[in-house]
Amino acid sequence: MDSCDISLTLEGPIKKGGRVHLCRVGDGAESGWATAPSLPRLRVGDFLEGGNAEFLVVSIGWLPGSGGKASSSLVLLEACNDVAAGDFQCTISRRGYALAWVTLSDKGAAGKRTDESGPLIGTMVEETLNLSVVQGFIIPDEPLQLKGLLSDLALVQGFDLILTTGGTGVGPRDITPEATLAVIEMRLPGFERAMTAASLAKTPHGAISRAVCGTLGQAIIVNMPGSPKAVAECLEPLLPTFKHTLEKLQGDPSDCATLRK
Ligand code: MTE
Repeated sequence: MDSCDISLTLEGPIKKGGRVHLCRVGDGAESGWATAPSLPRLRVGDFLEGGNAEFLVVSIGWLPGSGGKASSSLVLLEACNDVAAGDFQCTISRRGYALAWVTLSDKGAAGKRTDESGPLIGTMVEETLNLSVVQGFIIPDEPLQLKGLLSDLALVQGFDLILTTGGTGVGPRDITPEATLAVIEMRLPGFERAMTAASLAKTPHGAISRAVCGTLGQAIIVNMPGSPKAVAECLEPLLPTFKHTLEKLQGDPSDCATLRK
């Protein structure tokens, strides 16, 4: 397809890996930002490609309005190659999935503990699924913060997979399942059972986790316990089904009777 989805103007050159804000023309771009006459709905993990320029969408935010003017979209782009200043007619494509891992840990969020479970999630999922973006988040075991983050990641940032680790047990600060239940639209009890079965095959303590799985918008949300060992054991039975679940969730109308595996 060679039609143009977005016309970008870049004021100055940007190096590979460099980041640049993108907003609509007239919305108050600062020096060095990129602008476009109109901004289509973009999701984290979208690629914008035109001419020799290629950008990846890495974050979606707001540019606050002032003087009675409404706030508008502010998109953070990462350059995939060195790009010179100029005008670019870009197409938008989605070449892989966007994964967010979320670690629930009071100590981790306070910088008092280094947590290995989150990065492990990225490594494991990458082996079976084509990912364009992996982003990690560490927050305290606070229900409002988790509800807000899950909603933002799924509905605003547009992540496909949101995998949480920690806070699924019965301790006084274990709030992950309740906060997740409060935001999901469809529950995935089969995912939960698959994790419990795999966990019980390894340890009787697998029964303690109250991990919840479900969907929100176009995203799958999965809770897992906090230890790297538990993450590895719980993720394993789910990895083969993420792709097909995402295809169905995101509107694939094909007949599952012809499914290969
Ligand atoms: N599941 C698997 N597969 N492996 C484990 O080691 N640990 C259990 C359980 N689920 C475990 C597991 C333990 S000891 C606890 S307390 C609960 O997960 C809750 O862990 P969390 O509070 O870190 O979420």
